[in-house]
This record gives sequence, C-alpha cells and structure tokens, in this order.
Amino acid sequence: MNIGIIGLGYVGLTTAAVLAELNHHVICVDNDSGKIGRLRQGIVPIYEPGLEECITRHCQDGRLLFSDRMEDGFGGCQVIFITVGTPPLDNGSPDLSALSAVIIELANRIRSFTLIVIKSTVPPGTCEWVAKTLLDIGVDPTQYDVASNPEFLREGTALHDMLHPDRIVIGVRTERAASLLREVYTGIDTIYTVTSLSASEMIKYASNAFLAAKISFVNELSRVCDALGVDVAEVSAGMSQDVRIGPHFLQAGLGYGGSCFPKDVGALYHAAVSRGVAMPILRAVKEINDTQVDWCIDKLSESFGDFEEHRQVAVWGATFKPDTDDIRESRAVLLMKKLTESGYQVHAYDPLVKPEVPHVWWFNDMYDALVHCDALIIATEWSLFQDVDWSEVTKRMKGNLLFDGRNFIDRKKAEEAGLRYLGVGRP
Ligand code: UDX
Repeated sequence: MNIGIIGLGYVGLTTAAVLAELNHHVICVDNDSGKIGRLRQGIVPIYEPGLEECITRHCQDGRLLFSDRMEDGFGGCQVIFITVGTPPLDNGSPDLSALSAVIIELANRIRSFTLIVIKSTVPPGTCEWVAKTLLDIGVDPTQYDVASNPEFLREGTALHDMLHPDRIVIGVRTERAASLLREVYTGIDTIYTVTSLSASEMIKYASNAFLAAKISFVNELSRVCDALGVDVAEVSAGMSQDVRIGPHFLQAGLGYGGSCFPKDVGALYHAAVSRGVAMPILRAVKEINDTQVDWCIDKLSESFGDFEEHRQVAVWGATFKPDTDDIRESRAVLLMKKLTESGYQVHAYDPLVKPEVPHVWWFNDMYDALVHCDALIIATEWSLFQDVDWSEVTKRMKGNLLFDGRNFIDRKKAEEAGLRYLGVGRP
C-alpha cells in the first residue's frame, strides 16, 4: 500500500520505519527542509536504537521517500498518518496549530479516497473537528474518512514496541476505515481495540495518566517508607506479584519525565477543569512528580549532616530515561538545576548528551566527573552505571555517599566497595 506520513519526530520516523518494514511504500513529509535533506543522506535526527539502520535500509530499497512538501494527490496514498507535535501551551492544553495547518493544506490535495489517521496525541473531539473542517472547506465527503490511531511506543524501545504492541487502538466511524487500518498493520500479531473516534483519543490520555499515577503512587509510598524505615523496593516487588497490580511502572525514583507523561497529564487535567470537572487524583499525580526532585535533594542534604557551602556532587545521567538522547522534561536535568540553585557544585556525565545547564561542568569520562566530589547521584538508569568498578568510584571520590536516584544499583556491591548507599525510600 502507498502510505503518507506528515510530521517526522519520534513517532513519525518510527511509524515510517515500521510501515516500510511491513512492505508498504511510505512517503514522509516534514516542513523542516534541513531535516529532510539530512534524512535523504541517511542522517536520522534522533537517537533510537535500530532506527537509523532501518531507515537507511528502506531508503535504499525504495520503500521510504522523504519530501519537504505535500504533493497533489499525495503520491496516490490511500492512508495518510498525521504525526505532528502537539506540545503543551502555558495553560497545559495541547497546541493544535501544526495539526490545523496540515489539515488545511491536505484539504486541497485530496484527489481520491484518503483515510486520514491522527496519530498525534489530541484531546477527545479533535478527530471529529478534523472531519468537520474538511467538510467545511468543501472536500467531497465520499473522498475521505478520519480515524484515530494513538501510539504507545516508548523511547529507547520504540521499534520493538511498534512491531510487537500489546494492542492496536483504532477509533473509526466506518467499517471501511477499520479494515484499511487492519490492512496497514498486516504482519503485526496483536489484538485490535476498535472504538469511537473520541474513545480512542481518550484511551491514549487515560493510559498515560494511569501509568504516571502508578509512578507517583510509588514515589509517594517511598516517602512514607523512608519515614517508617521500610524498603520501598521490597514493597514494590511484593505488590508486583499480584496480577491485578502487575510489575510495571512501580519503580520509585526522581519522578517521570519525557515528552509524553508530563504533557498528557497536564492536557487531561486542563480538559477536565476547563469543563468544571475536578480531578484531585490527577492533580496529586502532578504535584508529587513536581516535588519529587526537591524531596530527593532534601534527603541528600540531610544525609550530609551539617551544611557546608559549595559541596561538590557528581551526577551521572542527563536524559529522561536510558537509551535515548531525549532530555525533554528530564528529571536529571531538573535535579542538576536545583542542585546548583541550592549551592552545590555539579559535575555531570551522560553517555549521549551534554545539555547546557548553567554552572554545571560536563565530563567526557564518568570516573573523571567524580574527582573532589562528596557524593555521586545516579539520575538516569543507563545500564553502564550498573557495571561500574565501585572500588574505582570510591578511590576517585572525596566523600563516600552514593545516592541512587533510580533505585537500580546493586546496593551490596556498592557498600562492599565502601560507599554509603542512599536510595529513594530505602533506609
Ligand atoms: C511513554 C509511554 O510509556 C508510551 O506508551 C507513550 O506512548 C509515550 O510515553 P516514554 O515517555 O518513552 O513512553 O517513556 P516511559 O518508559 O514510559 O517512561 C516515562 C518516564 O517515567 C521516564 O522518565 C521514566 O524514568 C519514568 N518511570 C518509568 C519511573 O520513574 N518509574 C517507573 O517505574 C517507570
């Protein structure tokens, strides 16, 4: 099938690669001509394991084409996915201006029946609005349909998640749209959840808000565990064995970041309160996340005992999670900012990025970052931090405090090397 994709961020590029992998011919459009030029040379603007190889392979076999403008008729595409960004506005609601501009341009390019699939995360009602806008512009309603097909891929494992999803959610108005989408995903072995347009849009927000709530719940629990002298990691492990609870998203730490959870929690909250619906649980989810880094810094300062000006600390990890170069809403970067504001001198290391953070010194070697430091803080759970030589860490540091901000270090090994281990909710 010929398929179009408009908007080449994480979701658009991963979708393009996976659809090419499923033997479709994919025309990818983005209005950033610099990005298109680089993609044509095989340079992928984001780091995602396996993505560059997959895109290069399908550029070579002719399944992927890149363009900075929509053509009339859009290359005979029967299905066009829209994957433009919907970043948050100041009030928390999503900015739909990119989506709106694409729809207006697309309206003038439809020449034969086209299914327009909204993959961008949008509030319930948006797909209906797209359908109505096309009608208002004068597009023949027999020549198009609109569907919702949210993505659930995680950065760092995006290709795998899209090729092996738990389910594919499709929101449709007609059986024709549903069967076209099933045809698109032929080759993926999973179940389909077929709903109305707005239920599909809501499933995305509800899923991310629920996962964020699990994380905030366990982070809140970590605070009481700390006060009661209980290890939250043992508690999470015990809870996980109840199939009704499950093992995922119960890892206490510095809180959630990234481009989705903070944005989607904010957008759902805004959609509710702007219609007079209070959402106390969601408000608390956000509040706990917004204060978790401060709580961790307080624990760190307490464990130093007397306050000493200009203490030096090393922070390992800057990305919002491992195996990505994405620092959007990263708790690690927030931690660095707050540490410097609290008077700490921060030495930082990350295997992939060195973002500009005022007063933070970046190092190319993780051990070099430790010199003169009173404490080491693990802020992102990159697997290489698990395999470190802890005796070398002890040797390089001035102090001996290890703050495991992701509760993922082998505590015993670190303690055997002479480090004083402090985790999140792990007395
Ligand atoms: C998320 C959703 O998982 C995905 O379905 C959606 O489509 C996009 O948003 P992503 O943002 O890539 O994916 O990362 P995810 O692995 O979900 O982690 C999000 C944040 O939560 C990270 O900052 C991570 O460190 C944090 N997290 C996750 C925890 O603090 N504890 C956990 O137990 C799990």
